[in-house]
Amino acid sequence: MAKNMAANWKKRTKLVHHGVRRSQYGELSEAIFLTQGFVYDTAEAAEARFIKAGEDEYIYARYGNPTVRMFEERIAALEGTEDAFATASGMAAVNAALMALLKAGDHVVSSRALFGSCLYILEEVLTRFGVEVTFVDGTDLDQWKKAIRPDTKVVFLESISNPTLEIIDLKAVSELAHAVGATVVVDNAFATPIYSYALGAGADLVVYSTTKHVDGQGRCLGGVVLGTTEMIRKTIEPYLKHTGGAMSPFNAWVMLKSLETMDLRVRAQTATATRLAGALEGHAKLNRVSFPHLPSHPQYALAKELMEEGGTVLAIDVKGGKEKAFKVLNALNIFTISNNFADAKSIVTHPATTTHQRLPDEQKAALGITSGLIRVSCGLEDADDLIADMLQALDVI
Ligand SMILES: Cc1ncc(COP(=O)(O)O)c(C=O)c1O
Repeated sequence: MAKNMAANWKKRTKLVHHGVRRSQYGELSEAIFLTQGFVYDTAEAAEARFIKAGEDEYIYARYGNPTVRMFEERIAALEGTEDAFATASGMAAVNAALMALLKAGDHVVSSRALFGSCLYILEEVLTRFGVEVTFVDGTDLDQWKKAIRPDTKVVFLESISNPTLEIIDLKAVSELAHAVGATVVVDNAFATPIYSYALGAGADLVVYSTTKHVDGQGRCLGGVVLGTTEMIRKTIEPYLKHTGGAMSPFNAWVMLKSLETMDLRVRAQTATATRLAGALEGHAKLNRVSFPHLPSHPQYALAKELMEEGGTVLAIDVKGGKEKAFKVLNALNIFTISNNFADAKSIVTHPATTTHQRLPDEQKAALGITSGLIRVSCGLEDADDLIADMLQALDVI
């Protein structure tokens, strides 16, 4: 059974203990309840549970599962919100948050600088069902002011954009949204659950791809939608439990165990990213280095106000476009070419030809996704080794 948890525990304590349920065997490490179903002593008990399942009573893993519940309670405690619903992937979480809130005729305002699959849902899926979507430059408050209307139902944004690391003034945008009664949904992947400021700044629902910092070791896909019990249980849960986007108990167990080390990992990766950004700033082979806590970041003051730290990812724009950027990628020895980020292994990505390939050239240009741009995700290797690796790769061009 779930133990009573101390509300005043600090993050690191919650990440190790919150939400633990122990079976009759008293296991130390959380058990994987790898079961899709649950049994009932009597037909009457089954009937009663279908009428109303109580706390820690389960019916079917698409609706809920004890291992998944431990993960949901732990990450909700970390985020400082009441409840959570875990999903099969980050995109299942984004899709559920939007689809559960919207209906035909509704209006959405979204920042334009989005991960490609988020853009697909907004541009191609929602519009097919009669939802009107207005895109804005998320960094321009005037554009938000003009776009948000009395009939706007949802405001969607990535708090820090992928891959250009633009920062949105979430407090100001949330105020505009709430003034018309719109729900603010924030994809918080880059901000990380450790440094998250989304709820305090006005977000109503926070969404993570837990594939990123939560797993952080390249094993499982996962996602989560976080918010008040009212929002999660009345709006998100009915949509997810009937449309099948639930997280598998095995993946939930991986994520749950990963939460125990997440604070240590994210802080170590952040320290490395901060050092690497500083070491590369002003490099002769680069047009620019983007990292929220570098003074040269266009929204440095906002980043300092909102973010405790600059995060685990930076972006560099290599002079000479794709040809030179590819040379740098191919010359790296420790950094791995991949399209994930926030992993224990440092990863480099060329967004223009991979994650954002499907965008037309004008859209890439508008978003700052140049042909020389490389997204750099710092892992857990030694920071000196990573800096040396990047500098020797830049020497090759
Ligand atoms: C900002 C952002 N949102 C959502 C996702 C989707 O997450 P997943 O791959 O777990 O579906 C990603 C993946 O890279 C992302 O970068």
